[in-house]
Amino acid sequence: MVSPFGPPAPHSEWRDKFPVRPGVAYLNHGSFGPSPHVVLAARNEWSQKLESEPMDFFLRQMEDQLDLARDQLGKFVGTAGRQLAFVDNATFAMNVVAEGFPLKPGDQILANDHEYGAVLRIWRQRCKEAGAELVVQSLPERFETEQQVVDALFALATDRTRMVVISHITSPTAVVLPVDAICKQAKKRGIAVCIDGPHAPAAVSVNIDRLGCDFYCASLHKWLSAPFGSGFLYVHPRWQSRIEPTIVSWGNSLSGRTSSWLDPFNWLGTRDPAAFLAVPTAIDFLSGLTAPDSTDWDGPRSGVGVFQHYSHELVRYARNRIVGLTGLEPMVPDSVDWYSTMISLPLPAYVPEPESPHAHQMQHELWRRFQIEAPIVNWRGRRFVRVSAHLYNGVAQIDRLVDALAELLGELKSAD
Ligand SMILES: Cc1ncc(COP(=O)(O)O)c(C=O)c1O
Repeated sequence: MVSPFGPPAPHSEWRDKFPVRPGVAYLNHGSFGPSPHVVLAARNEWSQKLESEPMDFFLRQMEDQLDLARDQLGKFVGTAGRQLAFVDNATFAMNVVAEGFPLKPGDQILANDHEYGAVLRIWRQRCKEAGAELVVQSLPERFETEQQVVDALFALATDRTRMVVISHITSPTAVVLPVDAICKQAKKRGIAVCIDGPHAPAAVSVNIDRLGCDFYCASLHKWLSAPFGSGFLYVHPRWQSRIEPTIVSWGNSLSGRTSSWLDPFNWLGTRDPAAFLAVPTAIDFLSGLTAPDSTDWDGPRSGVGVFQHYSHELVRYARNRIVGLTGLEPMVPDSVDWYSTMISLPLPAYVPEPESPHAHQMQHELWRRFQIEAPIVNWRGRRFVRVSAHLYNGVAQIDRLVDALAELLGELKSAD
């Protein structure tokens, strides 16, 4: 629970473990998460190994090293390493699924209006090519129960629905969706599920085998803080023979191993796999955390839960302070079941529509005048501020955001 005085103090060492530029209040780990120094060092070491003897590395070492990294990742996300392909990011993974998933004219893909814009675009394009239809359901304004979400989503399911595409944690609204209940309902109806999960690994616990989904797409440069350019695609064994990367290369093992669905993913032409091979270091970093020795800490004493507890309490503090400023209620209950290390909070109606699709003018002002990075999201015709918190953030940065928002909102209100 958050104390009346605010979230727990961070460990004194946490801030220094990240390369974040001093002076910047970086509250957007959810979009682009910096890696700790130790992860960057591991990535550089792998690159050095490659550069020192590229033939030996590519032909004799790389595939075994990727297996080891996948095994460790598999333990972290609750499946066997052999079901996971390393890919650059969730976008790459989702394109692979869209390309390989069988669709015929008249079929439907079911999504909802909290999904990431690029993901909807991928499926809109794929459905158009196949003569299929992307059905986008609106979820309720305020989230209350899992069942309410399941009922709303499946209200538009038909006997032509082939797959549900669903975020584990949504991008514009930062809601943790009840993917477990959604997978169960889809299974009952014989509908496949593709989870778009780049915000989930490390932010919440992920257990892919327990979910029983067909596909899971993730970026690891977000909450896990692995290097940029690292992500994974989980493919259930029943689909593996159909799924191939959208880039065609040799398609076989370089070191002469028996063939596997992973071969075409391991070799997409010559490239440096160091970002993938540094993923275990990112897992070790978060798993090796210990709680600060302070009396206000009532979370787990060690492991990734330390990060989750700290970040959630900080985000919760942001929620309380920003709701205090705007008087506008968030769309989710105050519970870790509905939001984790990131939250989207509504802004008053007088915050205007964005002037360009690139970034909202208020987001630009937060950066230009206050050196604060926090996205202003335009969703369902309304504006939200999305606040992310990681180990390198602290209460003072949230207070700085709230003061800046108060100033900018005051200016907009008087101009209204
Ligand atoms: C829900 C969701 N899906 C997909 C993506 C795409 O991730 P990436 O740019 O790492 O491919 C994002 C990025 O923020 C996202 O929030």
